[in-house]
Amino acid sequence: MIPQFNKPNFFSLYLWIFIETCLVILALYLSMHYGMVLRRLHSNAKHLDEVAGVDKRTKHWFYGHMKHYTNNETGLLRLIQRFKTFPLMISHWIGPVMTILQVYHPDSVHAVLTSGAPKNDLGYRFIRPWIGDGLLTSKGSKWFRNRRLLTPAFHYKVLKPYSEIFNKNSLVMVDKFKKVCGQSVEVHTHVGLMTLDTMLQCAMSTNTNCQHVTDHPYLMAVKEVGDLLMERSRQPFHFFDWMYNLSANGIRNKVVVKVLHDHTEKIIAERKEVLAKAVNDEEKDSEMEGFQTIKGKVLDFLDILLQSKDEDGKGLTDIEIRDEVDTFLFEGHDTTSSGIAWALYHLAKYPEFQTKCRDELTEVLGDRKYVEWNDLPKLEYLTKFIKESLRLKPPVYIMGRQLEEPLKITEKSSGRVSTIPVGTNVSTSIFMLHRHENFWDNPTVFDPERFTKENIAKRPAFAYVPFSAGSRNCIGQNFAMNEMKICLAQVIRNLRLYIDGDSPVPKMLPRIILQSESGIFIRLEKI
Ligand code: HEM
Ligand SMILES: *[C@@H]1O[C@H](CO)[C@@H](O)[C@H](O)[C@H]1NC(C)=O
Ligand SMILES: *[C@@H]1O[C@H](CO)[C@@H](O)[C@H](O)[C@H]1NC(C)=O
Ligand SMILES: *[C@@H]1O[C@H](CO)[C@@H](O)[C@H](O)[C@H]1NC(C)=O
Repeated sequence: MIPQFNKPNFFSLYLWIFIETCLVILALYLSMHYGMVLRRLHSNAKHLDEVAGVDKRTKHWFYGHMKHYTNNETGLLRLIQRFKTFPLMISHWIGPVMTILQVYHPDSVHAVLTSGAPKNDLGYRFIRPWIGDGLLTSKGSKWFRNRRLLTPAFHYKVLKPYSEIFNKNSLVMVDKFKKVCGQSVEVHTHVGLMTLDTMLQCAMSTNTNCQHVTDHPYLMAVKEVGDLLMERSRQPFHFFDWMYNLSANGIRNKVVVKVLHDHTEKIIAERKEVLAKAVNDEEKDSEMEGFQTIKGKVLDFLDILLQSKDEDGKGLTDIEIRDEVDTFLFEGHDTTSSGIAWALYHLAKYPEFQTKCRDELTEVLGDRKYVEWNDLPKLEYLTKFIKESLRLKPPVYIMGRQLEEPLKITEKSSGRVSTIPVGTNVSTSIFMLHRHENFWDNPTVFDPERFTKENIAKRPAFAYVPFSAGSRNCIGQNFAMNEMKICLAQVIRNLRLYIDGDSPVPKMLPRIILQSESGIFIRLEKI
């Protein structure tokens, strides 16, 4: 049927003229407003070019430096060429009007990390729907209070019993590896399941048997959120929240995040009940500096979050607890899995260092199967090896900040002072810092001896910061080092690792956490 239109009458005609005029005014206003915003951004950017220096050769008029420094290994390695002309810092354009200050020299990194500048909104934004305003993403007084409330969760008395969980879970992985000896195995996936298993047990005593059972709904949701995150970072249009929210992936993301939140909330509610009941029934069997343990159960992060109180006796709200548990889960499993997977590759690639690690383990452990808490400080060579692995493949390779006050950066060698204006977005490139040619001889050569006491003392403290430094450093750094040591120890003791001509050379993939493009392949052999 042909649609029928009413004859225009005067009223609707005037209404139309009115609406159109409004639209024109709105369009004019918007273009002026955005024009002004863009002009201001552009002039800020130009100013930063003068203060920090800019590489015009590699800059595209529209994509800025993003076209030359692609989001893959090629782009990452190209960054290294900046040291020669710009040893301290550089203005890095991320589009036609906006630029960020990139720092990668111990002097400039020191200035940024000790300035107390809060996180910017460029990096962790995508993960926020899941982890909310947890320790990683919050700022100001909220961050300060929660950091203080959470610090006891990483006390050595809490971490100590975790070493048994690390041993057990690593051996589950080792058993899986034993079944595929002789073949080229993609290890990153297996390691990822192992660290997720560990985090689920340490954060909320959840036992999903996830290294074998891979269709647990919660587990699938954690993995899917990671995949969605990865896809989003590849889709420039999805950088805008509203566009992402309307897209199929954005809608899916909401559903998956709800599954995750429901699961965590359920566990929180259950645990609260158990704790309340235990207090009434006096079932608590011991106290650890104010924290109750019930029937000898190992305290997990959730127990501690539920019992934390500040001086006013105020604890965390349920949403705050959920955000922190989810933050630990996210930040605690992808990072360590990247660290371990790349370390396995380095072990396979450098058999002479592998042998040294194995010899040390034999000496320290003797016939014991489990690596115990007291063994950890004795594993000096393994520690040096892990540090060198984290130098070349830092899981967190970049950190974002936005300046709330002007920042003075002093170059020690020349005494030159530069003042970076308020509002500037700063990106600390841990990846570049760890390969800075002024501080590392032959930076791409793998050599654990860089981390002897004498050699460490020769470098500035901020030349090596895989766990960041300053007040916002990684709260889980001891947890992570212990987990990495125990996991690698179990693999090295049980298996010989090697690569051969058939194993593809793994490529770094810069995402929120440093990943591997198409996996890390090595071969294993039973000992
Ligand atoms: C090899 C493993 C790990 C590496 C390389 C690593 C590295 C880092 C880095 C560089 C930061 C600073 C991020 C920034 O400023 O934007 C950070 C923060 C953080 N990490 Fe880790 N991390 C690791 C493991 C863990 C683990 C196992 C946990 C928890 C159990 C954890 C929890 C956190 C939290 C909560 C923060 C935020 C701290 C704050 O802002 O106060 N990390 N980590
Ligand atoms: C990195 O990405 C660029 C452009 O997308 C491509 O030309 C280049 O071959 C890629 N490099 C690697 C190592 O995949
Ligand atoms: C997009 O969705 C998230 C929740 O998933 C919400 O917090 C945010 O406000 C939404 N943004 C826009 C612009 O619609
Ligand atoms: C820094 O980043 C934020 C959002 O990510 C942006 O709104 C702001 O304009 C940026 N600042 C400058 C000076 O470019």
